[in-house]
Amino acid sequence: MTEWVLILGGSTGHGAATAKRLAKDGYGIIAFHFDRGEAKKIAEETIAEVNETTNGRCHYFNTNAASVETMEAYIPQIKEITGGQQVKLLLHSIAFGTTTNFFGEKPVTQKQMDMTVHVMGNSLLYWTQKLFVADLLGKGSRVMGLTSEGNYLAMEGYGPVSVAKLAMESIIRQIGWELGQYGITANSVQAGVTPTRALTKITDRWEEWVESTKKRNPMKRTTTPEDIAGTISMLLKPEADFINCSIIYCDGGEHRSGTI
Ligand SMILES: NC(=O)c1ccc[n+]([C@@H]2O[C@H](COP(=O)([O-])OP(=O)(O)OC[C@H]3O[C@@H](n4cnc5c(N)ncnc54)[C@H](O)[C@@H]3O)[C@@H](O)[C@H]2O)c1
Repeated sequence: MTEWVLILGGSTGHGAATAKRLAKDGYGIIAFHFDRGEAKKIAEETIAEVNETTNGRCHYFNTNAASVETMEAYIPQIKEITGGQQVKLLLHSIAFGTTTNFFGEKPVTQKQMDMTVHVMGNSLLYWTQKLFVADLLGKGSRVMGLTSEGNYLAMEGYGPVSVAKLAMESIIRQIGWELGQYGITANSVQAGVTPTRALTKITDRWEEWVESTKKRNPMKRTTTPEDIAGTISMLLKPEADFINCSIIYCDGGEHRSGTI
């Protein structure tokens, strides 16, 4: 019987690599993405590959997964796809927020802060609540979200996302604490600096970030989406059943090694 995973942000970067890896591991893939233009073409390539690997057990939806209306509209469809079976994984890998400083030329507004914290943090809570009530999360299910070093470092343009990362980490900790009794675990995976589309949106200096990260990383390279996909694949194994309310670092030790 097919086991299913649900990936929010599964078309590019970490989410796409995870979809491809878990497809190879034998899971059916249900994923959301929100892509227009050039990004849509990359999304189509990802979907074609996942579709082939899974023999058609692949459902991608190009819509705003952070909207509560989307959650309510699609959860019945997700249940139909899985045949009522609980999902093995709910992964939040959405990158969509305002990258600007708190002061200066374009100080962040309340609307931008609220949107960023909702999309990149709180939306995971509402998905988890709704999937749990729909009996789509149960014993052995995992809830995961991606965090970054911005959870304790101040960086150019990263303030709003930084706040969202802390919101997400707290949400994940509390989900694991409340749902652990049902055998559901929740963990954050902290990726090192990874050259993805999202990174290019944070700063114009992203190439400099990549170069300086390679220098300070103990393993002398940046993180790849495949590193994260491998970690998530490992965390789905029964041996990881007791890992809960934690932050798992997949960054070659970058977080122990100086600043950008
Ligand atoms: N790239 C890095 O250096 C890095 C480091 C640590 C953590 N992260 C985190 O990893 C996660 C994924 O980022 P990435 O680097 O893979 O970026 P990415 O831009 O490659 O992927 C973002 C994904 O989110 C989707 N998306 C955006 N808005 C959406 C919405 N409203 N609804 C549904 N899907 C939406 C996109 O379609 C895409 O699939 C983010 O949470 C990011 O903060 C990234």
